[in-house]
Amino acid sequence: MTIASISARQVYDSRGFPTVECDVVLDDGSLGRAIVPSGASTGSGEALELRDGGKDYGGKGVTHAIANVIDIIAPAIKGRDASDQKAIDQTIIELDGTENKSKLGENATLAVSLATAKAAATSAKQPLYAYFGSLINNTEFTIPMPQLNILNGGKHAHGSTDVQEFMIIPIGAQDISTGLRMASEIYHRLGTVLSDAGYATSVGDEGGYAPSVKNGTEEALQLLNKAVETAGYVPGKDVAYALDIAASELVGEYGYNFARANKQYNSDELIGMYDHLVHSFPIVSIEDGLGENDWASWKKLNEHLGQQIQLVGDDLIATHTSLLKRAIDEKSANAILIKPNQIGTLSETIDALTMAKQAGWRTVISHRSGETEDTTIAHLAVGLNAGQIKAGSFARSERIAKYNELIRIAEQLHNSQLSHPFTVLS
Ligand code: PGA
Ligand code: ZN
Repeated sequence: MTIASISARQVYDSRGFPTVECDVVLDDGSLGRAIVPSGASTGSGEALELRDGGKDYGGKGVTHAIANVIDIIAPAIKGRDASDQKAIDQTIIELDGTENKSKLGENATLAVSLATAKAAATSAKQPLYAYFGSLINNTEFTIPMPQLNILNGGKHAHGSTDVQEFMIIPIGAQDISTGLRMASEIYHRLGTVLSDAGYATSVGDEGGYAPSVKNGTEEALQLLNKAVETAGYVPGKDVAYALDIAASELVGEYGYNFARANKQYNSDELIGMYDHLVHSFPIVSIEDGLGENDWASWKKLNEHLGQQIQLVGDDLIATHTSLLKRAIDEKSANAILIKPNQIGTLSETIDALTMAKQAGWRTVISHRSGETEDTTIAHLAVGLNAGQIKAGSFARSERIAKYNELIRIAEQLHNSQLSHPFTVLS
């Protein structure tokens, strides 16, 4: 199955900004199509998203990234075997030749890498998740436990909470349909709870409500408790919570600045605050609880809470094996967020996930705040048996598309059982 043609075009993401879509067509006519998402609260370790700059689209054009696909990557991989993902990705990595894909842009490299894999899967007549599984010899496919971000703050919803994401995890659900039913019911209940409390029910970038809560994090968690309870579920039994603090975005002159709550914390105080929250609410996971440069405090946080809850490195690790290795060596966390566009090829994404699993870490496949109708991450989460997926709220089709795809995959697998990574906790 050789690559016959590669094309790329500009399409738009969920924020209405340009992004790259790539089509790879094989000699047997198989088409693979992939669209690259885009982050807003990006870690400094991430691969470079190549934007044109200048006046058009406020500088966010992607014509250079598209030209890199057509002029540089396509000639090098045309005629090559699409099923040799490692070799294709290695060629792309060498063509780029930089540490952070800053020559070609991860929006160019990932688009081609994923479109190639999707074309190869089509040609092999394999479901995409199974094809991804075959790349690591995995045949154990489990539907990932979702983290659903139903209350948005930080950079994704200005004027809402300091904490970027308040996620519900349907830990009491055995299968995906029950889990998503709970998500739907709780999400809509939260809307009622918020309007009863006098808050707006507009939504943020990831489809979660974005209330301008007066009293910060605890108030938001109390509102979640109320939504869960009025939906007929029990917080801690049926539903647990995960927070993405996105703490790198809160770093100020005097430590971590929680402006909405009118509080400043140094790293030790922040760890103390998390300890208090974890003992007051059924929180089973905290992502980016500390800033991406605060390595010494990550170790302390992990010593303090790592036996009780999941501590996820997103900006800290940026899906890079070099940063992950450091985090494993220093015992900085116990889980990794995996975002393919933080590193820029499928093979390197798989490398990070594999290294994390080998270290006994949990893995969470993640969307970006700027998403599209592309559902590849649902297949990645199942195919690589990641155990967890984070794909946003239970609203907005670029989020729901991933959950709907999990429903289809479960049907194909004749197995809708959810992975239960949190049963050993609490
Ligand atoms: P981003 O947010 O896509 O804006 O980086 C998601 C996250 O921080 O997990
Ligand atoms: Zn994050």
